[in-house]
Amino acid sequence: MSDDSENQALEKQETEKSEEKSELQARLEENKKKFEFIEDLPGVGPATAGKLRELGYHTVESLAMATARELDPVGISEKKAFQVIGAARSSVGIAFIRADELFKMRKTVARLTSGSKALDKMLAGGLETQTITEFYGEYGSGKSQMCHQLCINVQLPTERGGLNGGVLYIDTENTFRLERIVQMAKAAGLEPEQAVKNIIYAEAYTSDHQMFLLENSDEIIKANNIKLIIIDSLTAHFRSEYVGREMLAPRQQRLNKHMHKLVALSRAFNAVAVVTNQVMAKPDQFFGDAIHPIGGNIVGHTSHTRIYLRRASHGPIRIARLVSSPYLPEGEEILKVTENGIEDVSEEEKVTKSRGR
Ligand SMILES: Nc1ncnc2c1ncn2[C@@H]1O[C@H](COP(=O)(O)OP(=O)(O)OP(=O)(O)O)[C@@H](O)[C@H]1O
Ligand SMILES: [Mg+2]
Repeated sequence: MSDDSENQALEKQETEKSEEKSELQARLEENKKKFEFIEDLPGVGPATAGKLRELGYHTVESLAMATARELDPVGISEKKAFQVIGAARSSVGIAFIRADELFKMRKTVARLTSGSKALDKMLAGGLETQTITEFYGEYGSGKSQMCHQLCINVQLPTERGGLNGGVLYIDTENTFRLERIVQMAKAAGLEPEQAVKNIIYAEAYTSDHQMFLLENSDEIIKANNIKLIIIDSLTAHFRSEYVGREMLAPRQQRLNKHMHKLVALSRAFNAVAVVTNQVMAKPDQFFGDAIHPIGGNIVGHTSHTRIYLRRASHGPIRIARLVSSPYLPEGEEILKVTENGIEDVSEEEKVTKSRGR
């Protein structure tokens, strides 16, 4: 074979390969675009669609994350439930995938800055999308302050550690403060009026209401390009409503369901999910230790990152301890809560602090 004809043959091969590739690409694209509304899914008529909506499935994205068992109340056969979920999955590009593709999917995980470079570094770049990050600690440790700060940060462009998105804020203790949002927005150089428009706020009055709000949030998340879902506090209502030892099992079951929904939404919409949690005030017969977060094992077992916040002494400094992460080592960093929000502690302040100890 002459050099020329070899080159031609190679060229031909390359063209064929790229045609093949673009065909695959086109098929994938077509699959992705196929179903815009849940009614478009094969086997979903108006009656089924109505029941799915009652269950909180308003979008193809959230349906893609459902399990057949969760669709039980719809009254369709298990086989049909599998088909509907399967169609929704292929529509949003989730199906059986090879491990190398899994790696690609993992690459779509984005990170949100906490406002403190030290904390971001401990988290290997910031809070992750597609999983839950839990902040737990005593009252005044800065959990809600962190939530407020994240409401601002998520709106920032990616170059500044943001996600260019909005927030869904589920507030269970009526501690959301617009004044704080305005202060932090100004400090970050955002227009306060615009910043508050990107926060969708809901107050949850009971644990059932809290669950209901989340279960029906998929459409709001989609329509408002929400990239951060906050539940502050995750456990307060559960803790006050489910009192006594015999209530522990049902409480954990409900909490588990709630967390499961939150993970599913964060995956479906590539959003960061943040929950706050208080600690037991006294040594407790179930958890054994004064600094354990409420909710025990079930909250702990759902795949997520847990950060323990505590006050350093008097003053603005807080200690953030990475207690558990799916893949990062434990660590501890300091940050501070000021009028501007969550900030790093300067070297100078660190020295003063260590002298004061
Ligand atoms: N404008 C501000 N300037 C400086 N620090 C502030 C400001 N607002 C709040 N803080 C600090 O944040 C603390 C309150 O923290 P936060 O409300 O986040 O606590 P929390 O961990 O959510 O507590 P709880 O368990 O009661 O919900 C205050 O005690 C104060 O130290
Ligand atoms: Mg709070």
